Amino acid sequence: MFHDLCIIVVVVFGVFQVKALRPGQPSLSERTVGKRTTVQSEAVGASECEGRKPQWVQEGAIKRLRGPVFNIHVAGPYHTAGRFLVDLAVKAGKMNYTMYQRWGDLGKAELWKDQHWTDLEDWFPKGHTLRDLGCGTGRATILGTVARHPLNMFLHRWYACKDWEQIVKSSERGVPDAAKKKRDECHPLAAVCQPGEEPCEWDNILLQAFTGVPAASLTRADLELAKSRLRNFDIIFIVEHFSHTLQLTTTRLGWRPDPSSGSLNATLHKADESEDQERFPRGEITREQWQAVMERNSLDIEFYDYMRELAFGMLRADGLPVPPEDERIVVPQWRNSVLTSRRGSSQEARIV
Ligand SMILES: *[C@@H]1O[C@H](CO)[C@@H](O)[C@H](O)[C@H]1NC(C)=O
Ligand SMILES: *[C@@H]1O[C@H](CO)[C@@H](O)[C@H](O)[C@H]1NC(C)=O
Repeated sequence: MFHDLCIIVVVVFGVFQVKALRPGQPSLSERTVGKRTTVQSEAVGASECEGRKPQWVQEGAIKRLRGPVFNIHVAGPYHTAGRFLVDLAVKAGKMNYTMYQRWGDLGKAELWKDQHWTDLEDWFPKGHTLRDLGCGTGRATILGTVARHPLNMFLHRWYACKDWEQIVKSSERGVPDAAKKKRDECHPLAAVCQPGEEPCEWDNILLQAFTGVPAASLTRADLELAKSRLRNFDIIFIVEHFSHTLQLTTTRLGWRPDPSSGSLNATLHKADESEDQERFPRGEITREQWQAVMERNSLDIEFYDYMRELAFGMLRADGLPVPPEDERIVVPQWRNSVLTSRRGSSQEARIV
């Protein structure tokens, strides 16, 4: 029901090729950040996926994980690049796919075929666990997800909705096609979360997706459950670090995209985020309001940081480059000093 912005990213095919040919495979057991979590959540994760072992296949020079991919696509009004990944799975991974799937669809046989990509655009329903995705059942499956920073999601949609409102007001004779992108980014039919203290149903949306618990009821225990689930994942993509994290498709899924296919080029999402960052200092959102948005979404911000650390741990385990420290400031408006003193400087230009 919600449509992803068609995000296009530069995929450095040269690097893909080289990495795909690397000998040896990393162990998937490197879960260094897991140490920070509670014993309780370890237990939950273990019980959902008890005895799970990644299964590898060797096909000529390519080694890859066996099984279908179940990619958890965070459902809701935000753009999280879930459909962009489907497109990539087809074009670069030559996989078959099924979109718009919900947990109730998992009985379909075709979803369980080796090298099939399922976009699971749904929240974890009550009573379901990762075992429904084959985790710990002895079935070979690959668990994946993609995340965008909660504040970037919030900001991008809020601006798009503001612009869209303006467009509708000022266009007496129909909306120009060029403006429809704003409508798609806004999803005007779903509630628009506002800056300030008023809670919103889409707050902490990543955690909602991973636990099925609605925003108003989320607690730290849910955060721990979500983290424990995530520790069983094989691939985690981070939108703000796509150029790095997409490399996991070569080491874990065996993708070897055709270097001549320029179809996946362009850094549209980066351009979008830069626009948001430049607009921020105009003051449409006050510092106090922004602080409140961060507080409302603090569990999700913590979850995102955890996802990112897991994703970087995978890169390290596979011998892939990890984004340098200064590229990890995905939302510089958090930092007032950046906002006031480094505006327009290279700091902002380096947002990944
Ligand atoms: C995709 O589906 C077609 C038709 O069912 C099949 O021939 C092909 O082998 C499938 N590709 C993969 C990678 O599974
Ligand atoms: C990607 O496409 C844009 C135009 O959309 C072009 O300006 C740019 O040079 C291309 N980049 C690469 C790496 O092909």
